[in-house]
Amino acid sequence: SAIFLKDYKVPPFLIDKTELTFDLDEATTIVTSRLHMRRNPAFGKSTAPLVLDGGEDVKLIGVAMDDYALPPEEYRVSENKLIITATADEFLLTCETLIEPQNNTRLEGLYRSSSMFCTQCEAEGFRHITYYLDRPDVMSVFTTTIIADEARYPVMLSNGNEVERGKTDEGKTVVVWHDPFPKPAYLFALVAGDLAVKNDVFTTQSKRDVKLQIFTESHNIDKVDYAMEALKRSMRWDEETYGREYDLDIFMIVAVDDFNMGAMENKGLNIFNSSCLLASPETTTDDTYLRVEAIVAHEYFHNWSGNRVTCRDWFQLSLKEGFTVFRDQTFSADMHSETVKRVEDVSFLKTAQFAEDAGPMAHPVRPASFIEISNFYTLTVYEKGSEIVRMIHTLLGAEKFRAGSDLYFDRHDGQAVTCDDFVAAMQDASGVDLTQFKRWYSQAGTPIVKVTDSFDAATGTYRLTMVQDTPATPGQPTKLPLHIPVRVGLLDEQGSVLTAEVNGVSAEDHVLHLTSSEQEFEFHGLSAKPVPSLLRGFSAPVKLRYDYSSTDLLLLLSSDSDGFNRWSASQQLAVNELTALINQAIEGQELSIDSQLVHGFKALLNDESLDPAMVALILALPSQAYLSELATPIYPAAIKQARQYLKALLANALSADFERVYREHKMDGDYQPTAEDIAHRSLKNIALSYWAETESELAQQEVVSQFKTANNMTDQFAALSIAVNSQHEKAEALLASFYEQWKAEPLVVNKWLMLSASQEQETALTTVKGLMEHPAFDLKNPNKVRSVLGGFGQSVSGFHHENGSGYAFLADQIILLNKRNPQIASRLCTPLTRWKKMQPELSVKMKAELERILAEDLSKDVYEVISKSLA
Ligand code: ARG
Ligand code: ZN
Repeated sequence: SAIFLKDYKVPPFLIDKTELTFDLDEATTIVTSRLHMRRNPAFGKSTAPLVLDGGEDVKLIGVAMDDYALPPEEYRVSENKLIITATADEFLLTCETLIEPQNNTRLEGLYRSSSMFCTQCEAEGFRHITYYLDRPDVMSVFTTTIIADEARYPVMLSNGNEVERGKTDEGKTVVVWHDPFPKPAYLFALVAGDLAVKNDVFTTQSKRDVKLQIFTESHNIDKVDYAMEALKRSMRWDEETYGREYDLDIFMIVAVDDFNMGAMENKGLNIFNSSCLLASPETTTDDTYLRVEAIVAHEYFHNWSGNRVTCRDWFQLSLKEGFTVFRDQTFSADMHSETVKRVEDVSFLKTAQFAEDAGPMAHPVRPASFIEISNFYTLTVYEKGSEIVRMIHTLLGAEKFRAGSDLYFDRHDGQAVTCDDFVAAMQDASGVDLTQFKRWYSQAGTPIVKVTDSFDAATGTYRLTMVQDTPATPGQPTKLPLHIPVRVGLLDEQGSVLTAEVNGVSAEDHVLHLTSSEQEFEFHGLSAKPVPSLLRGFSAPVKLRYDYSSTDLLLLLSSDSDGFNRWSASQQLAVNELTALINQAIEGQELSIDSQLVHGFKALLNDESLDPAMVALILALPSQAYLSELATPIYPAAIKQARQYLKALLANALSADFERVYREHKMDGDYQPTAEDIAHRSLKNIALSYWAETESELAQQEVVSQFKTANNMTDQFAALSIAVNSQHEKAEALLASFYEQWKAEPLVVNKWLMLSASQEQETALTTVKGLMEHPAFDLKNPNKVRSVLGGFGQSVSGFHHENGSGYAFLADQIILLNKRNPQIASRLCTPLTRWKKMQPELSVKMKAELERILAEDLSKDVYEVISKSLA
């Protein structure tokens, strides 16, 4: 059943101190908690019973109040709650529970990964460890005692500082950790295992030395240098950019192989999915290097935006996630190229978040209700949440934004607060009125902004008329106008940027405030009708509609001073051409087009002044997923055919240019994951991917040769992907040799699993079934499940097979994982939830699978997604 934001009440009880003892063992783990509790004065006078949360996997051994062991008639356990009717106003509650981490397949709470014990408590995992007030507005000072066999668990970690170490009578080791900062239970962490460590030191701006430690299984310790450097860059950046200094004497990161998400910001003890931490040139691609850096930064930044100031309740999740994503995006932009980073982030948002906003699970950045909070760790809360913070930054300007952030941290340090509190701090520090702007938090759906224009030659006035409209989403039939910042520049016919005057301000670039459903803006001082560069830098997460001609788009592509909009223009041009081709394919016509992109690309490939990374991004055709987001209904095979056709057409028309660019951007020397080297590799590899689409024998040889001689995973894997995607005659052989070469490296094997599963072939389903039987596969490991099933989802001929066998197969896996790992099972549902947008023949088959799943005994996680999709 759903819970609602409007029902929020402060907790009736507080826990000032939490003392935990873990007696870790392979068979049973005993957890003893001593909770120093009192009634919450803010709740008002009350005799309400004490209600603690606990999972069905927690066995209660005994409970005592102020050392008086409660007899069974004085408490009751029902529906995952421990209820104690009579309590004093202040008391010590002692609870003894038994858990079995080795049987914990949900990977929430305390579980085993490889040979270690580890935890994941956000959002509601702590209740799978012991009974507790498992809500983020209950903040407590934790002391954690770990007891384990030293031989198997020489490393025993928890939050804060190690304060004591000793032995029990039976010779087990006892380690005590104390974290002085009050925190909610979701930030608790514990790790025990036989781990290797890399040590370093960071000196803060106030000259305190912080000990830095990264722990992994011993065979991976040679792959943490990059993460360590990224951590130090993050610490420095947060001091310089936000004035935030680290607060404990030690900061630890642990890599674990089995993890539901990317990583977790537990106070002083971050835990990472090893796929988001480990990196080496031979085994890691450029994308992953950048992801490692971004996630290390993200989790580190949470120390302030999340931990020092946390969320009042889970509806406020974007308070910490939207803000922290904005912080990590800006960090990455500062470390590399701002425009490249912006293009990557926007492209992701427009593909995946826009699709979520248009689907049955659409929800506001601050949701109003949920059944299972794990389902709301979404692109909307994270990515759209970040766009909201970015818009505040645009509205306030950098300086006032910083003042707002300082006020926020200062005002709310040590508190659990709301998105309203965040906006209030921004408003109070800047004097900018954000009243209407706040609707972004409560209104779901992607706004559509339609722009038309006119020019009055007599007065030199250019007018833009903007109409905004947000489509209905589940539970929100009507929408109010939003405050949308639209950044605009104007170009003349030669592509020169024009200065124009808006409301008395003369500039090359204006932020227009669209606040009504329909609004007009006037630009003065122009001699001819300009070409508008609209929504520069993607200044708001909206769908922009303006009727650009191909000539306009080519002009923007070649000349706009806003790098982001150059990319945007190329995308629009490609989308226009692909849409025409998709329609031909749907009609069963022979595909043909007089492509304007050929001219745009030709110019690009011959312009040496450009950043090769930007050229590579522009050359990448809109993805199958993005084109699916734009389409209603979606014809997957037609989209695939159109993309293949256009890619081949461009490849053949420009084959000499692609070959030349490929050769020009080849590099010798050691691998470096720097922006510059990454840029050359990305352009070289996309050039090769086009060239390989031609009949050229030389290109085919070059693919094999790059695969064999590459000194880094980026180039080797690019060659392998090109071979697979272009149906190279050696594709099978290269896949096999890749596996042989890398079978001892699980993270590389995951890439192999994904690529193998994504192949376009009539026998795709047989292939994916084979992969799930392969010795390299493991159903308990979320990364492997994601690789195989995620890869399969990309295979149009496999997943979208017209007989529905691909959908049935995915549904089988969801049912299989439903109880075992509800979080992962729920995430796997996403492609099926898009059934309403699918072409009719496929739509009914998807719907039938959703109904089949719904008939099962479902976890809350899967139930919420499936039932909402069918509603
Ligand atoms: N707070 C983590 C992060 O964004 C994500 C944890 C998500 N966990 C979950 N069970 N949904 O860095
Ligand atoms: Zn986060």
